[in-house]
Amino acid sequence: MSAHGSSACVPDWRTIESVRALKGDRVFQLLLRGGVRYVLKRSGTSSGMEAAAAAVGTIRSLGINAIPALPVPRRARSCAFAALGVVVAPHVLDSIGSDDELLFLPFVDALPLQDAVETYLRASRWRRRALHVAIGRLWAFDVFIDNSDRLLKGVNLDNILVDQALHLHAIDQTLGGDVIAALSGVSDRLRRRLDRMIAVEGRTSISIDLADQLKRAGFPLGNEDAFCRDVAVGLINGVRAIATLAADEVRELVDEYSPGLGSAFPILIREFRQAVQRSESGVPNGVRTRVAAVKGRCPRPLDDGDVLGGQLW
Ligand SMILES: Nc1ncnc2c1ncn2[C@@H]1O[C@H](COP(=O)(O)OP(=O)(O)OP(=O)(O)O)[C@@H](O)[C@H]1O
Ligand SMILES: [Mg+2]
Repeated sequence: MSAHGSSACVPDWRTIESVRALKGDRVFQLLLRGGVRYVLKRSGTSSGMEAAAAAVGTIRSLGINAIPALPVPRRARSCAFAALGVVVAPHVLDSIGSDDELLFLPFVDALPLQDAVETYLRASRWRRRALHVAIGRLWAFDVFIDNSDRLLKGVNLDNILVDQALHLHAIDQTLGGDVIAALSGVSDRLRRRLDRMIAVEGRTSISIDLADQLKRAGFPLGNEDAFCRDVAVGLINGVRAIATLAADEVRELVDEYSPGLGSAFPILIREFRQAVQRSESGVPNGVRTRVAAVKGRCPRPLDDGDVLGGQLW
């Protein structure tokens, strides 16, 4: 089995039966003959950078289930445009201009996190905690690819989808400026950020902000400290998962959609690896709980199973 799940194949555009807008004049759902659904999207940034980010996010060990987003192949563009022409005004179609922006994704029956309250209410305690952990993993991923529109600069719950089983699916990520910058060396800022991340054990500004937004949306989070701890476990495990990625495979995956940027990833992965090593060798970093506080037990890295009582999903 491949380590990532970007197995979406190109739809047969000639069999499109209906099109509806999911978001303004940017994101559309296509229904194909036989009931297969796809999403056609005009990328807000560059389709290559968005496709590369999604491809990295499909690596299973990261645990964030990114939905693969693939640039619409040149040979399919006229069909894609004809489909869009059904739902968007001609001037919008004109404004799409360079069709390099178009992506297609498999449609996933899932809702943006803030709209998934009912699913959350129905789910078992373990599934809820698994979701909190997955959000922490997603946060580590956003740092890895420097994706700004989700968990780095404030919180955008729209880009976290949740299905009926309360599984998380990451959407709408792209490679940020720090990935490009990493080609000429990793900044101290990223090092400091990684040290702080791996030392987190409870509340942080992001997890508090997240908890606030979820509570406002009607999520019964219960004990907020416990929520923040779950997210922190996911964050640390996300950093560890990134540190153990096969650097050459990630480079190839990224180069397929964003030629040249793949070379940043072995550099970034090495940085994550070194942060994990620093934390394990006891080099002081951030706000780790004092050893005295763990009452003689040998501190060891938490894994998702610590939170989930041995059950993932
Ligand atoms: N593959 C998908 N399956 C199901 N729903 C989707 C999918 N992709 C997008 N959506 C829905 O469409 C909404 C908008 O999609 P997305 O976040 O990708 O676009 P956007 O925010 O307009 O993008 P950008 O930030 O690049 O301008 C999502 O919040 C989600 O509700
Ligand atoms: Mg979005």
